[in-house]
Amino acid sequence: MSERGFRFIDTPETAIEVTVDGALRHLPAGRSLLAGLLATADGAPDFFCAIGQCQRCRVRVNGTSEVACLYTPRDGDTVETPETGGRA
Ligand code: FES
Repeated sequence: MSERGFRFIDTPETAIEVTVDGALRHLPAGRSLLAGLLATADGAPDFFCAIGQCQRCRVRVNGTSEVACLYTPRDGDTVETPETGGRA
């Protein structure tokens, strides 16, 4: 279990590299952006429902507005969180 109390029910075998607010982060492949960010100790955007309804986790991915709880990141994506102007 991670420091945030969030755990995967299985261990992802591969990781992808995503730039989040200018910092390179290694996230598990095949997970939502929100789940991947929560699994790391470096923080995640604010969220509430985690099912795409509240829009609270909205971020910019490669310049496009996305909800982090539904978006599956790809290797090389660039993510801006609301703190850095990523709020759409
Ligand atoms: S947490 Fe509600 S839309 Fe993502």
